[in-house]
Amino acid sequence: MQFIDLAKQQARIHDRLYARIEAVLSHGNYIMGPEITELETCLCDFTGASNCIACASGTDALLLALLAWGVGPGDAIFVPPFTFFATAEVPALLGATPVFVDVDPVTFNMCPSLLQKAIDAIQQQDASIYPLPRDALERPLKPRVVVPVDLFGQAADYSSLLPIARRHGLLVLEDAAQAFGGQYNSQRTCALGCDAAVTSFFPAKPLGCYGDGGAVFTDDVGLADLIRSLRVHGKGKDKYDNIRLGINGRLDTLQAAILLAKMEIFPSEIAMRQQVAAWYEKHLQDIKGLTLPTLARGVYSVWAQYCITLPENKRDSTVELLRQRGIPTNIYYPRPQHCLAVFRDLGYAPEDMPAALHASRAILALPFHPYLDEDSVHTVATALRGALL
Ligand SMILES: Cc1ncc(COP(=O)(O)O)c(C=O)c1O
Repeated sequence: MQFIDLAKQQARIHDRLYARIEAVLSHGNYIMGPEITELETCLCDFTGASNCIACASGTDALLLALLAWGVGPGDAIFVPPFTFFATAEVPALLGATPVFVDVDPVTFNMCPSLLQKAIDAIQQQDASIYPLPRDALERPLKPRVVVPVDLFGQAADYSSLLPIARRHGLLVLEDAAQAFGGQYNSQRTCALGCDAAVTSFFPAKPLGCYGDGGAVFTDDVGLADLIRSLRVHGKGKDKYDNIRLGINGRLDTLQAAILLAKMEIFPSEIAMRQQVAAWYEKHLQDIKGLTLPTLARGVYSVWAQYCITLPENKRDSTVELLRQRGIPTNIYYPRPQHCLAVFRDLGYAPEDMPAALHASRAILALPFHPYLDEDSVHTVATALRGALL
């Protein structure tokens, strides 16, 4: 059994995929070819966002947005501790301080009431209100940006997070790297009213290319233009007219062509993902000692991962038993961000973020992709039942 089966998808789109790739090979515009604008238009139509800037990865998408906002030393960037490293890495790379806000123990997304506490703690430089990074106590930090993550395909609680951010004049950057194609209150992710949103086209993502890729979305035309400049070394009129410092953050034309082929079947794949999630729920719901993923009200998940929660002391043995039965699993994420060596200087203790700490010890991702059949889901369920006896 595959954890994610990209070969089945490739077989389904074989002809249109090869036609798309051949078109690029024949026009030869490998850098910023016509497929880039075509993809950006297609992704705007799909999400409802007014501007899309395709770029080299989800990490670059985060970087481009934060660079455009001039994020740097002295800025507090609020991020969840239970996410992929890039969410906290990029603010830190720019010299800003990641301020961790623990996640909701049920959805694993940033907890709005803790965001409020973290903002209060930063503003009052008082770690008794909420655990703070060490440098926030040494000098006042300016609260600048909140980066909620739509973990495992489920949008964060924007109805609560956005008003808090607005009240405090914070920008909101939706990290939808795992949630492209999902919805919140009937709006697509990347178009949920945040100041900007980013996604990733890493191959394993719901919409993945055959390499690295990403995109930034925003309704702010000025911000979109600035990001387009930053994407190509801070270009002005042309690429030799450099008017600011930027990066080489372009998406390859070939990757855009591949994504365009995949977009034709993406809506049907999203529907297939719902079916697989429903089969998992049907076959796992009566297994004792296992907690199924829970969706918050208004969320339509794209199910980037199907993660169950196990008793902490049963996870290793469960992984091993499933492995023996030929069932691959993954652990996202075995270490919460505030516990990583790279962030040691921030001075957080593991218990400062109890929900993230527990999730990192209890979560297990099961095989999941649109082409998984019910028999395979049943096989996983049988193995889990045996493991948790
Ligand atoms: C939440 C989150 N943010 C950012 C990224 C970075 O995306 P990329 O790997 O395309 O740079 C990822 C990728 O796994 C992610 O899951």
